[in-house]
Amino acid sequence: MIDTPAIAPAQLRLSVAPMMDWTDSHCRVFHRLLAPHARLYSEMVHANAVIHGDRARLLALDPVEHPVALQLGGSEPALLAQAARIGAEAGFDEINLNCGCPSDRVQAGRFGACLMREPALVAASVAAMVEACAAADRNVPVTVKCRLGVDDDHDYDRFRAFIDEVAEAGCRMFVVHARNAWLKGLSPKENREVPPLRYDWAYRLKRERPDLQVIVNGGIADADEATAHLAHVDGAMLGRAAYHDPYLLHRLDVAWFGGELRSRADLLRALQPYVEAQLARGVFLKHIVRHLLGLFANERGGRAFRQILSEGAHRPGADWSLVERALAVTGSFQSDPLLPARAATA
Ligand SMILES: Cc1cc2nc3c(=O)[nH]c(=O)nc-3n(C[C@H](O)[C@H](O)[C@H](O)COP(=O)(O)O)c2cc1C
Repeated sequence: MIDTPAIAPAQLRLSVAPMMDWTDSHCRVFHRLLAPHARLYSEMVHANAVIHGDRARLLALDPVEHPVALQLGGSEPALLAQAARIGAEAGFDEINLNCGCPSDRVQAGRFGACLMREPALVAASVAAMVEACAAADRNVPVTVKCRLGVDDDHDYDRFRAFIDEVAEAGCRMFVVHARNAWLKGLSPKENREVPPLRYDWAYRLKRERPDLQVIVNGGIADADEATAHLAHVDGAMLGRAAYHDPYLLHRLDVAWFGGELRSRADLLRALQPYVEAQLARGVFLKHIVRHLLGLFANERGGRAFRQILSEGAHRPGADWSLVERALAVTGSFQSDPLLPARAATA
């Protein structure tokens, strides 16, 4: 077996989940600004798309994003190996294999969550990917994101056997979305909500296999919950909470790694040079600001902020001044304790 490189423990504590249509490069640049120590994940890209598709778009990566993982979908070891090598050489810091997506399209392609029932195939895929990355210009770790099982699998030993077989093939780090995927009758959205969470399986895995790095994912809603997981596993991966309330990422990063808590307005303005550069390249503002809408979630003016951005960003010629206008209505100037008193009366 070829060894996959280890990931530094500090790089695993906080991560943002791979989310299709959401965690594109613009989104990751924004999340990086909020959480300098978080590990970021791409949307899932099928191995075939990496090999035959528009790589400039699918593997778009800004230098500030690191460390960032490419998540692959697929179940053919040779194709996954080829795609993993391409991803490593494109600059991604980790190649992650999706064994958790339950969508019909993914099931039809026999990858994603249905791979929980095919540990030998996952092991063969991982072995091929590890070998391909070792032969690439840059060797990067190969990891797996999985569920606890599918449908009515309720047997911890079966889950453990899956992990053991895949670990034996060279995977050292597992992201465990700590619920089953129900392959019939539930939409992907319901599959993120209905099957019950069982964090204790991820904790037990870490206790029994301390040599593996285990990240827990699924339903982590706030900073206290995220912090509590760190007593049991190597890290917490946040998906929807991070996307809908991105300031949570900033608060977690500061709480766990130190540094100064910055105001939302300050963080947003730090994104301006990136936004201006993208606009100059012909990118439309709407493609970037859709990821910013939750920045003032649960804050005074948060709804107006969201509304101004989502309505205005679609207009032709929309530019940074729209973001300033949205910011001006947030009331953050009045309520943000981090800004100097003089700003509060401005
Ligand atoms: C819009 C959306 C798209 C997703 N796309 C992916 C994906 O491409 N790959 C993947 O492994 N999981 C995907 N997921 C699942 C998340 O990575 C995560 O496992 C799930 O949302 C549970 O975490 P959370 O409760 O913190 O959101 C997606 C979730 C959402 C909400």
